[in-house]
Amino acid sequence: MTTIEKAVDLLRAGRLVAFPTETVYGLGANALDEDAVRRIFAAKGRPLSSPLIVHVDSIDMARELALKWPEAADALARQFWPGPLTIIVPKRPSVPNVVSAGLPGVGLRMPAHAMALALLKAVGLPLAAPSANRFTQLSPTTAQHVREGLGNAVDLILDGGPCAVGIESTVISLLGPTPRLLRAGMITQPAIEAVIGPVETGAGADSPGQHPKHYSPRTPVVLGDSPLSGRGIRLDFSNMPPDAAGYAEKLYRVLHQLDSENYDWIAIEPPPDTPEWAGIRDRLQRAAYRSSCAT
Ligand code: TXA
Ligand code: MG
Repeated sequence: MTTIEKAVDLLRAGRLVAFPTETVYGLGANALDEDAVRRIFAAKGRPLSSPLIVHVDSIDMARELALKWPEAADALARQFWPGPLTIIVPKRPSVPNVVSAGLPGVGLRMPAHAMALALLKAVGLPLAAPSANRFTQLSPTTAQHVREGLGNAVDLILDGGPCAVGIESTVISLLGPTPRLLRAGMITQPAIEAVIGPVETGAGADSPGQHPKHYSPRTPVVLGDSPLSGRGIRLDFSNMPPDAAGYAEKLYRVLHQLDSENYDWIAIEPPPDTPEWAGIRDRLQRAAYRSSCAT
């Protein structure tokens, strides 16, 4: 039996399988099986108020889960799928409410990773999958990160090597009259606007699960110069790639590594305030949240 076949059997039995995507590793379960989806929340220690992204193998599979498939969804999917863009559309009743945390929309994404797509095709089911880490912790970009973070809570981990994009997908909601960017990522606002016209940004009524302290290493993180005492480490452009894609690809791997080295703090040089860096800036701000309001 191949590993994919084993994964398919587990998923059909309502169990959890971690799998690689181009962004980060996901903790997957059959999105149509409510009990299986509940196991994801339990394994992550994630509150039920935080909705899950559903992974699909095609636009056709996406349309089967969407009550409405707006023209903008089609244009975005055609331009950016497979890829790091999650599109929120009205959900059909066949998608359990636990997946969307009771919200009217469901987030859909077709990942650009050969192993993820092979798994989706083989199982023939949509897979609900948040990042495969404990709630509020750093997302995993290697199979080893998943092992260290979730251990026995996951039934199988598919190893597809390090993730090429390195931070989570851009999330856009098409529920309101104007599209709204809920989470920045490596697909930028200008790239999206080139396809569907102006979008709104910032949290709206439809942006749950955007806990400010998300994506955090255990070590306190400071953006800019550290005012903290003790033994720290600086992450700046002398030791990180100068381009956003290279930086994102490396970021979580470096943070996981530094986090294991028991520093008192990690001080990170703020990246440029331009659209290509928006996703990275967002994750760094969330990583730094705890220390900036620490007591
Ligand atoms: O790149 C990614 O998006 C990765 C890989 C595994 O695909 N997944 C990921 O999932 O980052 P997660 O659960 O860690 O983040 C999902 C976020 C939620 O916290 C929420 O902000 C937004 O996506 N989201 C998902 N479904 C939503 C919905 N129905 N309505 C509003 N926001 C939603
Ligand atoms: Mg996450």
